[in-house]
Amino acid sequence: MDSKKIIFSGMQPTGLPHLGNYLGALKNWVSLQESEECNTIYCVVDMHSITVRQNPAELRKRCRDLLALYIALGLDPEKTLIYYQSQVPAHAELSWILNCYTYMGELNRMTQFKEKSLKHADNINAGLFSYPVLMAADILLYGAHLVPIGDDQKQHLELCRDIAIRFNSIYGDVFVIPDAYYGKTGTRVMGLQEPSKKMSKSEMASEGNLVSLLDKPEVVLSKFKKAVTDSGSEIKASPEKPGITNLLSIYCAVTGKSIEQAEVDFSGSGYGSFKTQVGEAVVEELRPIQKKFKDLSEDKAYIDDVIRKNGERANEAARKMIVKVKRKVGFFA
Ligand code: TYM
Repeated sequence: MDSKKIIFSGMQPTGLPHLGNYLGALKNWVSLQESEECNTIYCVVDMHSITVRQNPAELRKRCRDLLALYIALGLDPEKTLIYYQSQVPAHAELSWILNCYTYMGELNRMTQFKEKSLKHADNINAGLFSYPVLMAADILLYGAHLVPIGDDQKQHLELCRDIAIRFNSIYGDVFVIPDAYYGKTGTRVMGLQEPSKKMSKSEMASEGNLVSLLDKPEVVLSKFKKAVTDSGSEIKASPEKPGITNLLSIYCAVTGKSIEQAEVDFSGSGYGSFKTQVGEAVVEELRPIQKKFKDLSEDKAYIDDVIRKNGERANEAARKMIVKVKRKVGFFA
C-alpha cells in the first residue's frame, strides 16, 4: 500500500498570480513535490472562477498560462498531477452531494462570500455562495492529507473538515480529514501600498500594490522602491510597523532566512536601501521562472499534451472516491 501523503491544492485562473499567491502557496507546492513522502496534485480551478463573470476567450488563455506557470515554477507534470478542474466531472458530482450535507448557516458565515458579495453586488449567484463546497469536494475527492494554502483560505479548509467529519459520522470512514499546510513566512502577503490589506488579484486598480510574477525586473524594483513604509527608521517586525513587517516577511519567504536573522542583517540600513535589497531578492527569485514561462508559452504542443494526459490521469485518480461516495449515499455506481 502507498503510505505517501497526498497533497492537494488549487488556484483560480483569474488574473496573473502575484507574489502573495507565490509565497503563500505556489512555492510550498514545489517544495512538497520534492519530498519523497508526498504525492502532489495541483489543479487549475477554472470552475471556481466562473462564480464571477469571465470572458470565455480570456479564461481559456488564463487557464493555459496558469498551467504553464505551474510548470515554469518547477512543477513536473510527470511527478505531479496538474490539470484543469473542469476536465474531471467528479468534482461537480461530489460538490452536489456535499451541498446536501452543508448548512446555509455555515456558508453564510464565510468571510470571502461576504467580501465578494459586496464587490459583485449585481451578481450574487448561487455558485458564489456554495463555492466553499466545491473547494471541499476538490480536496476530499483525492483523499488529500495536506492542503498547502495561504492564510485567507483557512476558513474554507475548516469548513471542508467539518463537512467531511459530518459525512463520515453518517457513512463511516469515507473521507480523509485534511490539514492545512502553511509555510513559515509569507502566509499573508500584504499590499505594497496598503500593508493593512492582503495582496489580492482583485486590487489590480492600484498597480503598485501588487507584484505580478511576470512583472519585468525594472517594474518589480520600482514597485518595491515605492512601497509604503512606516514612521521611525528601524528595520524591525512589529504590529506598529505593518509596511516594514510585510517587506521583511517577503524577504524571508524568498531567501529562507528567519525574521530575526534578517533584522540583524539590516540593522543600521536605511529604509531606501532595505527596500531595494528586498526588490532585488524578489527579482532574482522570479528571473528563472519568467524565462522558463516564456519558453513554455512558445511550446503549444507540449502544453496541449500535458492538458490531455493529465486530465485523463486525474479522472482515473478521482474515480475510486466518487464511486465509493455514490454507493454510500445509495446511488447506482
Ligand atoms: P486563490 O486562487 O485566491 O489563491 C491561490 C492561493 O494563493 C493564496 N493567497 C495568498 N497567500 C498569501 N498572501 C496573499 N496575499 C495571498 N493571496 C492568495 C491563497 O490562500 C491560495 O492558497 N478557493 C481557492 C482555490 C481553491 C483551492 C481548492 C485551494 C479551490 N479549490 C482546494 C486549495 C484546495 C482560491 O480562491 O485561491
